[in-house]
Amino acid sequence: MKVGFIGLGNMGSAIARAVAKCDGVSLLLSSHNPAKAGKLQEEIGGELLDNAAIAAQSDVVFLGVKPYQVADSIKELGASAENDSVWISMATGVDLATLAELLPGHDLVRMMPNTPVAIGQGMTSYSSQSQRGKEIFQTLMAHSGKVVEISEGLMDAATAVAGCGPAFVYQFIEALGDAGVQNGLSRAQAIEMAAQTVLGSAQMVLESGQHPAQLRDAVTSPGGSTIAGVVELEKNGFRYAAISAVNAALKRNQELG
Ligand SMILES: NC(=O)c1ccc[n+]([C@@H]2O[C@H](COP(=O)([O-])OP(=O)(O)OC[C@H]3O[C@@H](n4cnc5c(N)ncnc54)[C@H](OP(=O)(O)O)[C@@H]3O)[C@@H](O)[C@H]2O)c1
Repeated sequence: MKVGFIGLGNMGSAIARAVAKCDGVSLLLSSHNPAKAGKLQEEIGGELLDNAAIAAQSDVVFLGVKPYQVADSIKELGASAENDSVWISMATGVDLATLAELLPGHDLVRMMPNTPVAIGQGMTSYSSQSQRGKEIFQTLMAHSGKVVEISEGLMDAATAVAGCGPAFVYQFIEALGDAGVQNGLSRAQAIEMAAQTVLGSAQMVLESGQHPAQLRDAVTSPGGSTIAGVVELEKNGFRYAAISAVNAALKRNQELG
């Protein structure tokens, strides 16, 4: 299967790294930015081609340009996109109906990945217009982490929680790390402890099937130090701040769309 990539920035290249791990796939990488694409090619292989050649030759095309660049980058392709390839867009806020107007006759998939896809630990939601698109998408994303199909109406919510979520989590890790440094840990020790604590706790949520509040209860002994910290987080509106962050991101997604 020939899999093309138009738009090889942070997200497009993360997806390309995951797709490169699939058997039987030839990668066609956009030469739009030759320096960036050349570096990626050295890492994962594939052929550098212009966008029109990618559109003409690929069985599947991942579109990884910014949302405001989607329409122009497709219109530039002209007749070279007139075939029955599957197109997969990761553009925030660009819906399947808009893509269908730009790419008539193609099977279309709209995806919302996050950057941990690059290390096989992504959280990707998608909506597909067809069974063919769904099967191809699931096959190509097999090494990317978790992949779930959702109705398109939930895409903004998925974007705000999982697409934007890594930034919120990094901010929390940074804050835990700062507290560690304030109390004498080296920066490296503090960040490692904070990141591994987030990783292990997240794994506990996924593997135990328990509600996070149950897991939190299990580590807060009566009158102990953990409950003292939990109360302080509550006092400072920690959970409300997280909910507000997601809602602000969702509102901005809708404005951008
Ligand atoms: N970053 C995330 O966490 C994330 C999460 C979910 C979804 N997304 C979506 O992923 C898409 C890409 O986001 P990003 O963060 O990866 O942005 P980015 O790093 O700016 O990547 C966009 C890339 O597209 C290239 N490009 C622009 N016009 C092009 C054209 N006509 N042909 C080929 N390549 C072209 C740009 O190249 P130059 O810079 O060299 O011009 C750039 O490398 C967006 O639609 C975004 O909504 C991102």
